[in-house]
This record gives sequence, C-alpha cells and structure tokens, in this order.
Amino acid sequence: MTSHNLENVVLMLIAKGKGILAADETIPTLTKRFDTLGIRSTEQSRRTYREMLFTSPVASRGPADFISGAIMYDETIRQKSSAGTPLAKVLTVQGIVPGIKVDTGAKPLASSPNETITEGLDGLRDRLSEYHAMGARFAKWRAVIRITDALPSPACVSANAHALARYAALCQEQELVPIVEPEVLMDGSHTIERCEQVTGAVLHAVFHALFEQGVALEAMLLKPNMVIAGKECPRQASVEEVAIATLRCLRRHVPAAVPGIVFLSGGQSARLATAHLNAINRLPSPKPWKISFSYGRALQDPALEAWHGRDENLAAGQEALYRRASLNGAASVGKYTDEMEAASPGFDDPPHCRNWRDD
Ligand code: 13P
Repeated sequence: MTSHNLENVVLMLIAKGKGILAADETIPTLTKRFDTLGIRSTEQSRRTYREMLFTSPVASRGPADFISGAIMYDETIRQKSSAGTPLAKVLTVQGIVPGIKVDTGAKPLASSPNETITEGLDGLRDRLSEYHAMGARFAKWRAVIRITDALPSPACVSANAHALARYAALCQEQELVPIVEPEVLMDGSHTIERCEQVTGAVLHAVFHALFEQGVALEAMLLKPNMVIAGKECPRQASVEEVAIATLRCLRRHVPAAVPGIVFLSGGQSARLATAHLNAINRLPSPKPWKISFSYGRALQDPALEAWHGRDENLAAGQEALYRRASLNGAASVGKYTDEMEAASPGFDDPPHCRNWRDD
C-alpha cells in the first residue's frame, strides 16, 4: 500500500510552476567546477555556495517561488548555515523539500569496462533511515548509460535497472520518495533517432524492474534525459524535434501512474534546457504526468559564474539562480518566451561551463 506521506511529498515536488534544484555534486565534481573559476574548494566554500543557492537576500521573494525541492550531497545535509541552522532546515522553513543523493557513484561494469554500474545498495536501508531523521523526504539515484555503435550492452541496462528498482523499493520502505534517474548520456556522435531508441529501451527495462521490485509508481518521480542528438552528431535536432521525440518516447514507455517527470539537463546549455522543457509542455499530445525540471548545471551555472567565490557577489549569485529558476518555472507550464530571456544579465551561458560533466 502506498503511504499518504509519500504521495503528499510527491505533490509538493510537482507543484505547479516549480521544479527541483539538483545541488548534489560530490566533492570532486564541485571542486572541478570551482577550479575552472579559480575558487578554492574547501568545506567552508562549498557550504557558503550551497547556502547561497538555498537562501535569498530578499525576504519577500526567494528560490521557493520556483523551486519545490533541492537535492543535497551527504556533506551538505550535515552542514549548517552561517546562522547555525542545519541546511536541511533552511530549506524546510522556506517550503522547499530537502532531498539527498544516495548512490555512491557509477563504477566500471565488470563484464563491460567501458560502461558503468551505479553502486550504493550496501547499507542503504540504514543510510536512508539516517537521512530521513536529518530531514530528507526524497532521494536520488543516477544510473548512467552510454551510447556508441555497440553500446549500451543488455547487461549494463539490466544491471542498472535492477539497482534503480532496489533503491526505489528501499526508499519507499524508509518513507522517502525515490527519484529514479536513468541518464542516457549526450556524449558521442549518435543521432536523435538512436537516442530515442536507446532511451525507450532503457525506460522499458527500468519500469519492468520497478514492477518486479514492487515499487509504487504513484510515490516516485522519474528523472530522465531528453531525447537529443549526441553532442558530436553533425545534425543537431531543432527544439521542436527534440520536444516531439522526447514526448513520444515518454508516452510509449512511462506508465500514467507516475505523477511526474522531472528532466535532468545533462550538459545542455541553460537556455536550451529551458527552451526544450517549454516546447515539450506546449505540445498538444496528452501528457498523463506533470513535466518539469530537476536541473543541476542548467540552474547552477549562471549562479556559480555570478558568485565567482566572492562574498560581495552572493546577492548576484542568488539573483542569477532566481532568474534561471523563474524561466524554468515558466517553461514547466509552457509559458516561457524569448522576450523573457532577452532581459539577461549575461550570466546565462558561461562558455567554460559547456564541458562540465556530472558524476
Ligand atoms: P544536470 O542537470 O547537470 O544533468 O544534473 C542533474 C542531476 O542531478 C544529475 O544527476
């Protein structure tokens, strides 16, 4: 039986006009991003950065206007704001649901070393219970699928689908909403058609595994990639083509019982990630689920660029996040326009961010 608590958390996460901020980079990944801008990565600077993202200089308006939930990393959920409040509580008091990344990373798959299997199931029940006690109400686990002419292998797809399903079942047992994230990477020269075929097969395997493990679809969210040509593909699809292929693929493979689909940005520019989300929401085909965002890079990059590690830029960083979140909030209801983008303060697509990778 599905818990009402879980379904209520889901409803908060997919509230109209809002999406999720993924701020769960591991220490090495965040350090690489800081390095690019010459920011020293310390426990303190990472704390300051996350506190900047989670708060606002203006009492009457803040990230909660467009952000329903924020995903933290283990270090972050244990940290306190400069005023001494646990960061999870800083989120909760604003009405933002605290979330936590619980996988321990993608490691080489033994039978196919060019592919990965996401680890973290050992001891997961106890870790989930601890995170729940610290205030987390949802969790994230990311599986990574690479496309080449020969990949993904069936072994990679089924092992990752199985791990995602076991994670999701454990989350629901421990009263956390699982975000199920099977990411088909944009790396490579594959066509949009190949991305659609692989994404469809992966989603099919994931929902089969979720069924096998008895996961309640009503009490989870799906975090997929959009259907998009590989970064090196000579023919890049238009915004409209991406929207049509993405919605077609999701309609074929995601059961209507799933309440919401929150996309990852996957290395798309901030503007393109917003434009794609908007175009998907504007398509006339029926959409049985809420469709919104759970972006990392596409929300954070402008804020990180504006902040640049300097205290005097904290308000500018918060303003950049607010702006990007508001544009994505508009896209989540199909109301984003080019004119809204035109009033840009100039931080939206920093060129050095384009090759940043997720872990
Ligand atoms: P990106 O939006 O940067 O892909 O990050 C989302 C995320 O949470 C990846 O796990």
